[in-house]
Amino acid sequence: MRHERISVTDEAAELNQQLKGTVAERLLSRQGVRAYYPKSGIPGQTMEAKGTQINATLGQAFDDERQPLYIPAFAKYTNLDPKEVFPYAPTHGITPLREFWQKEIRRKNPSLDGIISLPVATSGLAHGLTLAQQLFIDEYDMVTIFAPFWGNYKLHFEGENEQTIWNPVPLYNQKEKLNLTEILAALSGMDRKHILSLTFPSNPTGYTPTEAEAEDLFTIIKESAERNNDILVICDDAYFGLTYEKGLLEESPFARLANIHENVLAVKVDGATKEAFFWGARVGFLTYGFKGMTKEEAKALEDKTAGRVRGTISGVCTGSQHMVLHGMQDPLFEEQLQKNRDILQGRVQTIKRTLEEHPEWREEYRALPFNSGYFMCLKTNKDTERVRKILRMEYNTGVLSINNMLRIAHAAVPEHAIPELYENIYQACKKVS
Ligand SMILES: Cc1ncc(COP(=O)(O)O)c(C=O)c1O
Repeated sequence: MRHERISVTDEAAELNQQLKGTVAERLLSRQGVRAYYPKSGIPGQTMEAKGTQINATLGQAFDDERQPLYIPAFAKYTNLDPKEVFPYAPTHGITPLREFWQKEIRRKNPSLDGIISLPVATSGLAHGLTLAQQLFIDEYDMVTIFAPFWGNYKLHFEGENEQTIWNPVPLYNQKEKLNLTEILAALSGMDRKHILSLTFPSNPTGYTPTEAEAEDLFTIIKESAERNNDILVICDDAYFGLTYEKGLLEESPFARLANIHENVLAVKVDGATKEAFFWGARVGFLTYGFKGMTKEEAKALEDKTAGRVRGTISGVCTGSQHMVLHGMQDPLFEEQLQKNRDILQGRVQTIKRTLEEHPEWREEYRALPFNSGYFMCLKTNKDTERVRKILRMEYNTGVLSINNMLRIAHAAVPEHAIPELYENIYQACKKVS
């Protein structure tokens, strides 16, 4: 074990014992080794006291009929049952939602087999990413990630570590396909810890690999694991389900990686935010899988994660969790979701058509391959920061300048404004010498 001298509580020791000999044990960070869910503390004792006639354990107020002592002025702004809004939710998340989400993961990823953990609720995906860092990424650990990548990963994966080693691998090769050669190099070596962060569809480029590219990527990961490397793969599925072309990877990489090799621990970071168009709910999940994982090992990982939930935000909003659960179980949900997906897909098709209709724009910029998600990127030789400012000041148009590229959030742009947006970018680029 890499962290022999870390002093841990008995509860952490018990979880570590359950994970003994697994890839999860080997990949835990120092904080991950120490993480535990305080079962013998307040949450555990409170659980045990559930159903007692006089229950004086809970840090919540109840009326004399043992109902939550809430303020009706709040309740009139929701039609949820007050019991689904006012009390604290369990630290791991509300059980029916966790079970529902797990079933949904299986339904949407038919090739997923083997045991996976019960998803632990997080406050949006961002919180899930931070917890993954806390549990698995130590100072001087190297994070391999396709570039360009979403800037927030720096905030999440570095945490308080002054030294996280970043190993960005260009997403596209010379032919503008998934850059497998450099990933292969990044996962070379033997007997090492690797951390690989995968985000498909990508933010910022809106790229999802084809099935064939993804298959090659999985093979590279598997072959690296066969060389005795322990690999943590963080699958950020924020934009899951938003693919707009045929032949792309439709399932989460988690579906294949959760059961690919005993040395690969796959962590699925997902949630309602983008894939269910519920940004403000702050309902996300962390789910684990590795080949041969037992239910007890899965539970140990859930408890370590819940320990970090409790140690950061205490728990996820009760009302949000019930809204997500009821909303996704609503008979109209799938149809409404599809309608939104179709709107985004229609915009991407319009962008592609519009760009084709204007070959002159290629003198100033060109689009990097995009086929999914909320975004796309334009590459230009011009100073993108100056272009951005001109767009804002002279063309009433907002885009982001990142990594010497312009990032366009087409998910936020009305269909009819698309030609004007790209024409404006062309004009603004022309103004920069
Ligand atoms: C790739 C990716 N992951 C995670 C997140 C964060 O999601 P949330 O708002 O649920 O924290 C975002 C948000 O932009 C994102 O683009």
